[in-house]
Parts: sequence; C-alpha cells; structure tokens
Amino acid sequence: MEYTISITEQTERKITDTKSIPFGKVPTEHMFIAEYRNNKWSNPRIVPFSHLVLSPFALCLHYGQTVFEGMKAFMMQDGRINIYRPDKHYERFTKSLDRMCMPAVPKDLFTEALHQLVQLDSNWVPEEADGALYIRPFMIASEDRIGVKVSDEYLFMIVCSPAYQYYAKPLKVKIENRFVRAADGGTGAAKCGGNYGAAFYPTQQAREAGYDQVLWTDSRHHEFIEESGTMNVMFYIDNVLITPPLSGTILDGVTRDSLLTLAREKGIQIQERPISYTEIQMALEDGKRVEAFGAGTAAVIAPIETIGVGNKHYNCYIGEDALMYRLQEELYNIRKGITEDKHNWNYII
Ligand code: COI
Repeated sequence: MEYTISITEQTERKITDTKSIPFGKVPTEHMFIAEYRNNKWSNPRIVPFSHLVLSPFALCLHYGQTVFEGMKAFMMQDGRINIYRPDKHYERFTKSLDRMCMPAVPKDLFTEALHQLVQLDSNWVPEEADGALYIRPFMIASEDRIGVKVSDEYLFMIVCSPAYQYYAKPLKVKIENRFVRAADGGTGAAKCGGNYGAAFYPTQQAREAGYDQVLWTDSRHHEFIEESGTMNVMFYIDNVLITPPLSGTILDGVTRDSLLTLAREKGIQIQERPISYTEIQMALEDGKRVEAFGAGTAAVIAPIETIGVGNKHYNCYIGEDALMYRLQEELYNIRKGITEDKHNWNYII
C-alpha cells in the first residue's frame, strides 16, 4: 500500500458491558483520520477518539458537503471477527462522494484503515447474537471558507460504536404523501448528510401523530414507495418479494442486496419494480397476507406491523414463520460463520 497508517494507542480501556449503550452513543477508544489537501491524502493515522478542531468557516458546516457509510463488524462463532462486505460499502461510498464533488479514498487505504481500526478496537465487537460493531466511515469538507464553493480540503474519518437491536419492536409507519425524501436528479442515491437532516421534520411530524417512521413515496406522483425511514423497504405478497428499483432516488443498500441474493437462492420470485401504496392497500383490503419490512445496516430487518394510509390503518404479517425472519437468520448465520459464506461477504480480519 502507498500509505502507512500510524497508530497511537489509547491504553486505558473504558467499557466492558456494552449491551446497555443506546445506538451510536458511545465511541470505541480509537478513530481513523486522514487529511486531503493539494489533491492528495496524507497523514493517515489511528489515534485515541477525540474531538475535532474545525474553523467555524469550515465548508461542511455551511453547505452540507458530507458523506458517510454505515457498516458492521461481527464476531464469528469461532471468535474471529469479520467486517461485512467492505467492497460493496466502498463502492457506494465512492459513488456518494462523486455525487457530492468530493475526492475518492483509495480502496486500499479504506480497507486497511477499517482493518486496523477494527482490529485495535476488537474487544468492542459484541459476542451476542443481536450485537455488532457499527462502523461509520465519513468525509467532511474542511476548507476554511464560507464562500460557496467545492471544498479543496477534506477529512476522511472512521469511528465505531457497539450496536444491538436498532428497533425494539415492529414498526408503525405512515405513508408520507406530502414531504419527499428525494427527487429525480437529486441526491437520493447518495449517502450524504443532507438527506438525513431533511428527513427529520416529516419524521418528527409522523412521530407526533403516533408513528415510528414514514414510508417515503416518489416526488412526482406521491404514490410509489421509495424507502422506509432510513432503510430500503421490501414487501412479500403472493409469494413474490417486491422492492423498489434502484432508480437513482433510493440508496443501493448493502442489506437490500444481500437479502435479494439470499431470497433468489431460495428460489423466491423477486421483483425490483415500482410499487404503489395503493397496490399494497388493495392487497391488504383483499385480506392477503402482506409482509413489509425495512432493510438496512443498522436495523438489518425492521418488521413493519402497521401501515397508515390517511386515517386508515392496515396490519401486515409479522408471524414467526415470516420470510423476513428466515432471510434475517440466513444472513446472521453467514456473518457468524455458522453457514458457508459463498459470496465472500465476510472480510475476516
Ligand atoms: C444504516 O442502516 O446504516 C443507516 O444508514 C441508518 C442510520 C443509522 C443512519
């Protein structure tokens, strides 16, 4: 590798019982950081987790040039640790950066930084079935300048935090047909900070109305389902697994791709196509068994129990034999090294 990552170790270990930590609340002891200046990355290093010093003029604070990834590392049943699908995350990170006019990170630097950081903080990787180390690579525009421009300087960082079950119970979601998450030609397929900030207001309104999350619909017709909260979404109706296509407005989810691959291998019919909420509503009104679930790195699978359309509420199937739980278990078994990792998804450190 062209880059040598220096390591400054934090010798004092903070926490042993991580189970009670809320998602994203407590960082591990170390973080990775590298700087981009004069068109190149320099000074890649792993250091004790600490605050950043940024000028109030830093461009990321004003114009939203920020991109992140969400990844996980798992402890396998034999005690080894794997990072799940770093290649696929790298690919998406690179696409998001490109969309936001930000520089790519060389793949070997990305992979080596992840490897060394997770290795150093490996005592934070939970052993429990529902536990993982959540890994957050991200980049921010760090140039000091409040003139509106593409930054010439960036920080690429990776931080980690232990993570367990993301949602405590099945979700109650509302069809959102006023606000939108993304529009054609926008940044919906990029994992940029602005997409999340812009979702807060509609999500807060949905929460105040008694829902957990929104089901986003398309910007043109407010009819076709896009994502669920911060996750991709899937429906299982009449033995067909249906999910919105990667049209440019939704994220190319790594969990989405993994679940579709596993379902395909089980011989399940898959349709990646636009699906309107009225189609789902009609299926539910016809008394069909409908499974609905979010799919994302943080939550893995988030069962949807209730869908609200206006003032009508519909119940989806969340019984133990649901397909979503079978797919989740298969994924879990691969990550834990219980079943064969046919696709080389586990990057074992
Ligand atoms: C993820 O599933 O990794 C997400 O992007 C959700 C979130 C924690 C922002």
